[in-house]
Amino acid sequence: MTVHFIGAGPGAPDLLTLRGRDRIAGSPVCLYAGSLVPTALLNHCPPGARIINSAPLSLDEIMEEIATVHAAGQDIARLHSGDLSIWSAMGEQLRRLRAMDIPFTITPGVPAFAAAAAALEAELTLPELAQSLVLTRTPGRASAMPVAETLTNFAATGATLAIHLSIHQLDRVVADLTPGYGPDCPVAVVWRASWPDQRIVRATLSTIEQAVAGSMERTALIVVGQVLSADDFGESSLYATGYDRRFRPQSAASPFAEGRE
Ligand SMILES: C[S@@+](CC[C@H](N)C(=O)[O-])C[C@H]1O[C@@H](n2cnc3c(N)ncnc32)[C@H](O)[C@@H]1O
Repeated sequence: MTVHFIGAGPGAPDLLTLRGRDRIAGSPVCLYAGSLVPTALLNHCPPGARIINSAPLSLDEIMEEIATVHAAGQDIARLHSGDLSIWSAMGEQLRRLRAMDIPFTITPGVPAFAAAAAALEAELTLPELAQSLVLTRTPGRASAMPVAETLTNFAATGATLAIHLSIHQLDRVVADLTPGYGPDCPVAVVWRASWPDQRIVRATLSTIEQAVAGSMERTALIVVGQVLSADDFGESSLYATGYDRRFRPQSAASPFAEGRE
């Protein structure tokens, strides 16, 4: 049997990959992180599937469940919200599965930051303004931050920030970022991106707290950076008229011209 880790996406049930859907459909057991995974995805489980919400379980209990399913020779679909590469707790499960010699596959999903960017109708990297996106968070009760990964340090780069798991500390986010980005820096908070009740608040670092006014809890992403309001940015060279490149050689003398590579 195999444990199929599947990125369940940010909320909208149709933001699931076809591979993820097929792996859910092919697994007689489904273990899903019930705090965020949309329950509509469970409709892809085969008839009679055993469906377990892992939210109230400890890691030991989850691994026990997996070991039992493994012993019965069955595949298991393991669903986590968004993509599996960030804040999914997949890493610790993989370590135990390797130790137990249980095979697994990993199917990526649409991360919340991508759904939030789509909701904002924004590209988060724009020529000359920001060419880096930092996916980060503030420290939580269960998760300390590595010492150098502070918002103040990230602010020194001017990169676009997608701050997760932090809406309850918006005051701290504002205080840490204002010296680096300035009070007028655009901020957007996207709550439940891609869900039917999605909400967006746009403001600046100096006004965002008042604009949100405690109206958003838990499933919200704070996006900070000049890319959010800028209309004044360069166009990418890649599509510029006259830019010589592999897929659009500009002359017979181009190093990319047919027969010259
Ligand atoms: C435990 S992390 C999971 C991240 C997930 N693995 C991903 O790829 O996006 C949960 C945090 O992601 C953000 N998040 C998840 N889904 C979201 C959504 N639909 N809209 C806005 N933020 C979301 C929130 O900041 C939330 O506190």
